Amino acid sequence: MYIDVHCHLTGDEYAEVGGVGAVITRAQAAGVSRIICSGFDLNSSKQAAALADEYESVYFCAGFHPSELDKYKDGDLDGLRKLCLHEKCVAVGEIGLDYHYENNPPKETQKTLFVQQLQIAHELQLPVVLHSRDAAQDTIELLETHAHLLTSGGLMHCYSYSPEMADRFLKLGLCFSFGGTSTFKNAKKVQESVRQIPATRILSETDCPYLSPEPFRGCFPNEPARVVAVVKKLAELKTATEEELKTQILENAKALFSKLH
Ligand code: NI
Repeated sequence: MYIDVHCHLTGDEYAEVGGVGAVITRAQAAGVSRIICSGFDLNSSKQAAALADEYESVYFCAGFHPSELDKYKDGDLDGLRKLCLHEKCVAVGEIGLDYHYENNPPKETQKTLFVQQLQIAHELQLPVVLHSRDAAQDTIELLETHAHLLTSGGLMHCYSYSPEMADRFLKLGLCFSFGGTSTFKNAKKVQESVRQIPATRILSETDCPYLSPEPFRGCFPNEPARVVAVVKKLAELKTATEEELKTQILENAKALFSKLH
């Protein structure tokens, strides 16, 4: 059984390829029978919950993505907290810091909401799914300062930083998931991180609809069935068989996401 621990199925991209139902059927056929659909604001988190209600293989996480905070309204955190109580809500996410674009929300706003959501995860004993882009230093410093809130662990999703930085995230007990970018020819730094991180801390994702892995690079929308191609590449990098790594990843996912069955 394969697992896609991070994807977005709530957008309208999938209408073009038969709808979300067809996407989930194709995933099942490829052996991908656990899918964690990630929210990025209150509305998408609610939509992810609805998908989890509808499809047995779908679980979800609820959270406010740092790039989406201009949509944030008072009371949204209460809405997220409620969603987190859903039996198939496996984590608070995706949350974190994103400094990629100049017009992203102010750093201080991002940090405040990040910490508030870490607090919710701590209170509800849920792990966190972390998004960090062009913000390695602030992310690690904030997490080290608030390590007491990481009581149920966490996942650095689509990990894109160096192996040296990975060491510091490892010391906080975090796991790492890798998607399409890890299969790209020029992704030397990410591939070095995969080699160095212990197999017991590695998970697989697609982050679809974007970033289709090789040999589907450039195909849009990406979908969970393609996590098989990601695991193939990760197994090669870890000098393990696909079977061994697939089994290990499922164990890792169940250890991190206690509500996942
Ligand atoms: Ni994402």
